[in-house]
Amino acid sequence: MHFQSTASRRHFLAAMSAGGLFFTERGAFAQALTLTPAQTEGPYYPNVMPVDRDNDLLLLNDNITPAVGTVSWISGSILSRTGSPIRNAVIEIWGADNLGSYIHTSGALNGQRDSNYQGYGRFETASNGAYLFRAIKPGLYPGRVRHVHAKITIPGGQSLTTQLYIEGETGTDSVLSGIRDAAQRASVIRPWTAIAGSPIGALSVNWDVVMDYTAPEIAAATRPALISMAGVTHGATLRAGAASGSWVALHGSALAATARTWRADEIVDGNLPTSLDGVSVQINNQPAYVQYISPTQINALAPEAVTGGTVQVTVTNANGTSAPVTVEFVRTSPGFFQYAEEHIAAVRPDGSYVAPEGLLEGVAAAPARPGETIVLYGTGFGPTSPAASPGKVVTSALRTASDVRVRIHNQDAAVSYSGLVSAGLYQINVAVPADLADGDYPVVAEVGGVRTGKFVKLRVQRQTTAQLPAITRPLPGLNILRHTAA
Ligand SMILES: [Fe+2]
Repeated sequence: MHFQSTASRRHFLAAMSAGGLFFTERGAFAQALTLTPAQTEGPYYPNVMPVDRDNDLLLLNDNITPAVGTVSWISGSILSRTGSPIRNAVIEIWGADNLGSYIHTSGALNGQRDSNYQGYGRFETASNGAYLFRAIKPGLYPGRVRHVHAKITIPGGQSLTTQLYIEGETGTDSVLSGIRDAAQRASVIRPWTAIAGSPIGALSVNWDVVMDYTAPEIAAATRPALISMAGVTHGATLRAGAASGSWVALHGSALAATARTWRADEIVDGNLPTSLDGVSVQINNQPAYVQYISPTQINALAPEAVTGGTVQVTVTNANGTSAPVTVEFVRTSPGFFQYAEEHIAAVRPDGSYVAPEGLLEGVAAAPARPGETIVLYGTGFGPTSPAASPGKVVTSALRTASDVRVRIHNQDAAVSYSGLVSAGLYQINVAVPADLADGDYPVVAEVGGVRTGKFVKLRVQRQTTAQLPAITRPLPGLNILRHTAA
């Protein structure tokens, strides 16, 4: 379940940077540094973030089918104007797949997209300022030469949006031609060279990014920083629409020195912790309940008392307090948790998983059967009756104050229960329509006049009892009080 963060493949990065394979070229230090020029963001910065946002764009989550294209390792350092590496800089890249399409919902060239390409990735630099991505050589689309987009945000919030080009590519490009200075052009048009001995013909490009930022400011560089745009999101959909009394995810840099989930012993007398390892979150100066911390993501439960409207969010740790980020909070903003590839997080009343076979690593799962009742999980489904106690473990299931309506494939599906079953976690028991043919169907819920804001799907398949998976362990990462009564 992606809610636990996106850091699952960090070992990929650690293994590569430990080898130093791609960090040896440091030609930038031999000459006076040229500031990397800003370039337009373009229309295709993801409007829906992929669940997997790591630095390996070639593979999505635990998918084993790689993207199509020429594997290209993109590496370099984020440097200050005096050449000092910048620690805790976040570099985001996004680029076209082999078909020339972006993961943006309106970025599919000729309506086609390589569904195995992640299309977007993030990396946070360590003290050496180095970054690394595995991507593909970007595809061509009309009007541009091949390019990769990048946005670098350094502690304190300063950012640079730019693009990386391929030396030797011909063609006119009105974006690239906007860079008049020859040295600045050269700083973004880089050689993509074949890696000697690579059996698959992989390429390597080294690209240092020089920020208009001076060394003395680095003293404050370890202060936590939230991403100013979309740095605080709905905890299930990771999009806009944070709701009070529900899970939110905070994105930034230097947020915490460690990565972990709260421990059972940190929940004392049923009270949820408001800080982990000295890392806390303030929403309009009220403490939020902190469930997960990492350098780049925090998951927290927003206090009930934060009512609708514009609020200020900050993160505090041993190095200080971040600059505030302004976020719109609402009382009700329903969203479903999901496993991977937009499949809704669902189980059967007996605890077995409802998902396509093989989707969940190491866990047996089976699609939903027409007519069976399944259990969905989400956050942001609004007030309960009676009200939940703020910051407390939920000890008895609390029904939603408003009825939840669920539609599967545009058909109303009978909801037999909807309520809060764990802090900020809502459970909805719903009957899968009996007449559905095998397939993937969108699931939409509505509560208090508000609809779920992100596409999720449910796989439905007729099957025999023998095909059903055995009862397995509870959902990872969720301490659930499961409501099984009709
Ligand atoms: Fe582009």
